[in-house]
Amino acid sequence: MHGVKQQIKDLAADILAGIVDGVVVIDENGGVVIWNRTAEEMTGIAAADAIGKTSQLVFAENPAVVAQISKTLESGRSYSDYEAELSVKHRPPVPVGLVTTVLLSRTGSPLGVLLTIRDQTGVRDLKDRIRRADRLAAIGQIAAGIAHEIKNPLVGIRGAAQLLQSELRDEAKGGLSEYLDVIVKEADRLNQVLEGILDFTRMKPLDVKPFNIHAMLDRALVLNEGTARQNNIVLAREYDPSLPEVLGSRDQLVQVFLNIIKNAVEAMPGGGKLTVVTRMSDLFTSVQADDKKHRLMVVKVSDTGAGIKQEDLQNIFAPFFTTKDRGVGLGLALSYQIVQEHLGTIRVESGEGVGTTFSVYLPLAF
Ligand SMILES: Nc1ncnc2c1ncn2[C@@H]1O[C@H](COP(=O)(O)OP(=O)(O)O)[C@@H](O)[C@H]1O
Ligand SMILES: [Mg+2]
Repeated sequence: MHGVKQQIKDLAADILAGIVDGVVVIDENGGVVIWNRTAEEMTGIAAADAIGKTSQLVFAENPAVVAQISKTLESGRSYSDYEAELSVKHRPPVPVGLVTTVLLSRTGSPLGVLLTIRDQTGVRDLKDRIRRADRLAAIGQIAAGIAHEIKNPLVGIRGAAQLLQSELRDEAKGGLSEYLDVIVKEADRLNQVLEGILDFTRMKPLDVKPFNIHAMLDRALVLNEGTARQNNIVLAREYDPSLPEVLGSRDQLVQVFLNIIKNAVEAMPGGGKLTVVTRMSDLFTSVQADDKKHRLMVVKVSDTGAGIKQEDLQNIFAPFFTTKDRGVGLGLALSYQIVQEHLGTIRVESGEGVGTTFSVYLPLAF
């Protein structure tokens, strides 16, 4: 009989160890009695260090968890907090869902509390992405409407200014002609902004084909070479020649790298080094139209410029975010959308005064 009991106990231990959620049981006096393997991994606290201690002590850095446990014990009810954060020593806090349930004896008196901790990192990331995509879509619709409305009168303004200019030139009124130059130039700039906005919403179907990523990067580099040279910026290429072709819309992706390289050049007004690296990554896309998961490659564009302030990092992909006097703030927002449509991702690392690296992950053709 003893053997069977032990077997069941072992089995229970195996089940607890195999559960992907953190499972913790606290007795009616607040002492920890069960602390499974996932709970060890999520908190960085070993079962041996947790069991027998009070939950106040073990969750000293998480007063909200302690409060939820005692609330559960006192009321005999269950509580869930799907948007909690677990503070962990030496690591950034982990987004978690916490559920506490009271454990009752057969006679209905409370025996303790069962606490499950579910890691929500992936879910939280996904929610952020959806939120960002929603925001882009909404802004896109409004902005496209406005852009159309402004474009037509703008063409009129520009045309009238040019006509006036040619009339004035004949009469050789130099000073006034300068003002008209400003009108035409500013109208052109506004038109560029409007074109940028319209690019968002002209949901051109992607013309997806395998293409040579290095030839495309060279094109984007050549177009920025003049400005780079003027600003004493050294361009360096570190291509992996063994990379297969990338699968995507070449015309849209060249836009992405033109934006990123232009930003890098603009971040180094006093000179510096711009490096473009390509290599294989060990990440994969989700399933694509051809029912396959594609391996990703990565293009890293690094500069030795001013860097991005910590508080700006979360905003740089938002439409119209810019820190430049004459910036538009659409380059990165558009790039993000294009890469997203390719099932790739963009990551950024930046150190103030050190420089910035944009990593663009794109699917390979095979
Ligand atoms: N390589 C970089 N170094 C420093 N800051 C950058 C870099 N790339 C982008 N940024 C920041 O991101 C902002 C948004 O960039 P972007 O969308 O291209 O708009 P814009 O270039 O018109 O400002 C920039 O204003 C700048 O603050
Ligand atoms: Mg830009």
